[in-house]
Amino acid sequence: MAPNKELAQRFPKDFLFGVATAAYQIEGAASEDGRKPSIWDAFSRMPGRVFQQHSGDVACDHYHLWESDLDMIQALGVDAYRFSIAWPRILPDGRGAVNEKGLDFYDRLIDAMVERGLKVYPTLYHWDLPLMLAGDGGWTARSTAEAFADYADIVVRRLGDRMDALATVNEPWCICHLSHLYGIHAPGEKSTEAFAAAVHTLNLAHGLGVQAARAVRPDLPMGIVINAHSVYPASETAEARAAAERAFEFNNGIFFSPVFQGTYHPDILSAFGDRMDIRDGDLDTISQPLDWWGLNYYTPMRVAHDPEAADYPQARTVPPEPGPDLTDIGWEVYETGLSDLMKDLYARYRLPDCYITENGACYNDGPEDGVIDDQRRIDYLEKHFGAIADAREAGVPVKGYFLWSLMDNFEWAEGYRMRFGIVHVDYDTQVRTLKNSALWYRGLLEAHKETR
Ligand code: NOJ
Repeated sequence: MAPNKELAQRFPKDFLFGVATAAYQIEGAASEDGRKPSIWDAFSRMPGRVFQQHSGDVACDHYHLWESDLDMIQALGVDAYRFSIAWPRILPDGRGAVNEKGLDFYDRLIDAMVERGLKVYPTLYHWDLPLMLAGDGGWTARSTAEAFADYADIVVRRLGDRMDALATVNEPWCICHLSHLYGIHAPGEKSTEAFAAAVHTLNLAHGLGVQAARAVRPDLPMGIVINAHSVYPASETAEARAAAERAFEFNNGIFFSPVFQGTYHPDILSAFGDRMDIRDGDLDTISQPLDWWGLNYYTPMRVAHDPEAADYPQARTVPPEPGPDLTDIGWEVYETGLSDLMKDLYARYRLPDCYITENGACYNDGPEDGVIDDQRRIDYLEKHFGAIADAREAGVPVKGYFLWSLMDNFEWAEGYRMRFGIVHVDYDTQVRTLKNSALWYRGLLEAHKETR
């Protein structure tokens, strides 16, 4: 049997296959039709923050090329498209005056998706916080969670009737840990205070966003997208195992416990609680039942015990050894991390149905004689589809998969030099070329359709 067919048969008939992108990474048109800057527009202009000071000013120019991009998505044969809505297009100042032209863009986009038979899977927040809100403290300020709820209300009122599901926020870990503790993403803060405050504001924003969306459209399937880490001890010592468990709480539990259990772990509270503005009722708001949740997975996390590393969790991430099992961004390829993680999360928490909302690999192969031979990406995808099928067969209710990414795009602090697309983008000409991985994915989807 052709390998595609064998793999396709491991997924049920109604399994959803899609591709994913995010607004700031692909749209460009940063100051068109009333959009005002986000924290990423500002951050990318600061020297030394983003590779060669690349920015999303033009990106893949999807704001203008959206129709042909949707044709391309349709031609891949996917069922669904995951994209994000740019808050600074809808509310250029973060709150207050609504920019109708911003809503119009997504209105057209969604109509065109429906026309093409694509299911609509938007995310409300994929990191482009309106810059004006940063002035009030951004994610460290409780008022940002309230502004987010107003934004959710406005979006769902205008666009919610054609959505198949809606995610509140994408990757709280990146928004809190990477952006406020490690200083790698916008706004580039390195502060435990800012981090602790951001964690609670973000969890609260999620809860308030769910309430706001459901108040308008009670039947809209609501979820959150989390880049949970598959945490392993770097060595087989009791100390390393204990460090891995602390790292699990610090990197995963800090979102999963409040969202799915309505609590913060006592260790999280003793380390950060005095800097989190937790008020009566917040945890009920945060933990209302969800219809689904999304998992973004790329690579495992291996940790060692380190008493020197911050007070909590006294664990240090051990970088992978260079070798053939690393992608071009330096991330270890370990598909078992995905199946282990899914099983572990379902054992620990009461979770609703899951979608893999992102998975994919950075390989920077370019065209040679018009062909982009990214066999390494195909290998990566094949392994990870296998791991998802394993987890599903072990009882994890995973209902769909969105490949990151449809096309090469602005890879945040790495700028355009890191490519995750199954479609190659020539940034000088905006020409899109299907890589071999796109052809492979199309083949997998064709094989899957034959099983339906
Ligand atoms: C996760 C993020 O959601 C996405 O924006 C990013 O490009 C990919 N991971 C790859 O790093």
